[in-house]
Amino acid sequence: MADPPERPEVAVVGSANLDLVVEVATIPVPGETVLGGDLRRIPGGKGANQAVAAARLGRRVAIIGRVGDDDSGTLLRRTLTSAGVDTANLHTTGGTPSGTALIAVAEDGDNAIVVSPGANSRVGAADVAEAADAVASAAVVLMQLEVPIEAVAAAIRSASGTVVLNPAPAPAEPLPGDVLDGVDVLVPNQTELAVLAGHAGLSALGDVDAETAVALARGLPVASVVVTLGAAGAMVVSGAEAVHVPAPRVTPVDTTAAGDAFCGALADALADGSDLVSAAEWAVRVGAAATLRPGAQPSLPTRAEVDSLLDA
Ligand code: RIB
Repeated sequence: MADPPERPEVAVVGSANLDLVVEVATIPVPGETVLGGDLRRIPGGKGANQAVAAARLGRRVAIIGRVGDDDSGTLLRRTLTSAGVDTANLHTTGGTPSGTALIAVAEDGDNAIVVSPGANSRVGAADVAEAADAVASAAVVLMQLEVPIEAVAAAIRSASGTVVLNPAPAPAEPLPGDVLDGVDVLVPNQTELAVLAGHAGLSALGDVDAETAVALARGLPVASVVVTLGAAGAMVVSGAEAVHVPAPRVTPVDTTAAGDAFCGALADALADGSDLVSAAEWAVRVGAAATLRPGAQPSLPTRAEVDSLLDA
């Protein structure tokens, strides 16, 4: 009899997208047309990126999601498999295109992204039920909001490890109470935090600076919030504790998937038993290292590459 598959340390319920990337001098404003560089097709999607990030750091990772029955789906599955991610629960949806992201990357490394979810929008509670063993046995269940909220809620119900939710993209509607109640660690960026806080009846006036971030995070019904602050690092807010974790100084080439690298690394460290502040210290390093190479998944470092990229 064949050996049973090894249990994942990190289970990711999330999206896979083919990123169509064009470099531009500056991101166009509404009504503007700009000429850019050659089109590049790069594996991405927040779920797949975070799964690959944790796998490259050495974790056993499984992804629960969907791709379309097209060339993009074949490429996305192959890239995940080559990174060591278990794709037994990455299903193919017939007659539906794979998720696709249109990305403009500016000279300063900043980006603007439009996502067409395609097959990602077909991920449902039944997919999570089919992967119940993987979800229930993982030390960390890591999710984002590029798949339907029903799938996220189902994974939260099945999880027995630490539930980490990266609420990206920011939800248009308030998250259901049973979702937020089931999250152990919420990882928003400043924009996502402001949106979630708005849904919770808290107002974010002007920029969400580090001080405001602490106040807003404390107003959310979640045990711990790790707010990513871009070049300024992250703020870990857990009960009465608020700790600022600075990021290494880098000159970014492309910030696409830096947040995903952060989340994957946070999951990696939490799966290894780290406390939240130590996990965030590791995650800011991995996130910064991921800005030093172009593209989403190609930019995600192995454990050995993190120091060499940051020291270069
Ligand atoms: O976070 C970066 C990712 O967002 C890209 O890879 C794109 O696919 C979108 O999901």
